[in-house]
Amino acid sequence: MSKTVLVIHGPNLNMLGRREPHIYGAMTLDAINEALKQRGAAAGIEVQCIQSNHEGELVDAIQTRGWEAMGIIINPGALTHYGLSLRDALAMLSAPIIEVHLSNVYQREAFRHTSVIAPIARGQITGLGWRGYLLALEWLLAEYETV
Ligand code: DQA
Repeated sequence: MSKTVLVIHGPNLNMLGRREPHIYGAMTLDAINEALKQRGAAAGIEVQCIQSNHEGELVDAIQTRGWEAMGIIINPGALTHYGLSLRDALAMLSAPIIEVHLSNVYQREAFRHTSVIAPIARGQITGLGWRGYLLALEWLLAEYETV
């Protein structure tokens, strides 16, 4: 079993902190990634984080790095709702995929209520802000009894 967790952030999540903070919170992406890396390191797990505004780049990263990971935590951003090549790339992997959203997508516009990722994800955490990522990591750590 590999000791790597891959965290994938989709379009516009590089703007966290400045982007609609009343919806997505004040925490920057760097700060979220740092919190994840520290929690992983405490459990002997390497947390790798990537962000791209381009679906193809995320597909490339999944194809090259996804196979090695013991789990994937992904906030696909708007690709959640229509990113079929992203979904197909994730579907190739056997490691569990956890879908995370900072905001509660079900309380928002109707187009956010559909996720093309959810059917191939092990679970979904939505509306718990940046702590949702850490909860996803806790689940992976507990699942693999590395705590
Ligand atoms: C989001 C929700 C999506 O609908 C939106 O397009 C995002 C962020 C969230 O984290 O709440 O970019 O995934």
